[in-house]
Amino acid sequence: MTRVSRRIALAALLLTAAGQAFAQPARYGIGRAATPAEIAALDIDVRPDGTGLPAGSGSSSAGATIYASKCAQCHGATGKEGPNDVLVGRVPGDGFPFAADPKVPHTIGNYWPHATTVFDYIRRAMPTTAPGSLSNDEVYALTAFLLHANGIIDAGAVMDKASLPKVAMPARKYFVPDTRKQAAERPKP
Ligand code: HEC
Repeated sequence: MTRVSRRIALAALLLTAAGQAFAQPARYGIGRAATPAEIAALDIDVRPDGTGLPAGSGSSSAGATIYASKCAQCHGATGKEGPNDVLVGRVPGDGFPFAADPKVPHTIGNYWPHATTVFDYIRRAMPTTAPGSLSNDEVYALTAFLLHANGIIDAGAVMDKASLPKVAMPARKYFVPDTRKQAAERPKP
């Protein structure tokens, strides 16, 4: 075969492959549409302004009991000991030393910009052995416990969908919108 005829043969092959790709059936007969209940079970994101927070409430004292039985084995008796992520800790003056000292553990008290994310994360991902197993009241209570342990809310404060978005996080001021242009919009060097 000449080089040209090889190219023509290759092009014909690609066209056939493309033609087959377009001749797909409307359905393969596998899978089905998700039900509203299935979508609702996954549609649980909570935004920084509290949008998405469910009904329910919890206090730090209720959270302490749940924490001791379901969380302490991985995060330590007071949230500082590990073996897994350190959850409790502030840095002097509520500074932001992470670039200068990467060994400083990132905690809810010194790093997380939004209190509502604590709720979202715990509800969605913890405990790692049974994510999704906590009731909304339990998640509110654990959120209250961890915010109190970080010195952010008073011991008696009750967290619910109205109070949680109002909690001011110590590291909030270090997070700013990224106004840099996308790569495509940037002037070429
Ligand atoms: C079996 C061990 C285990 C248990 C039990 C567990 N966690 Fe975790 N937790 C982890 C691990 C591992 C991570 C880090 C996950 C990652 O980075 O992807 C984590 C991360 C977290 C974080 C995010 C930390 C950060 O700053 O990124 C929070 C908050 C948290 N856990 C809360 C809880 C709470 C509340 C409970 C109890 C309901 C709990 N965890 C139970 C293992 C556990």
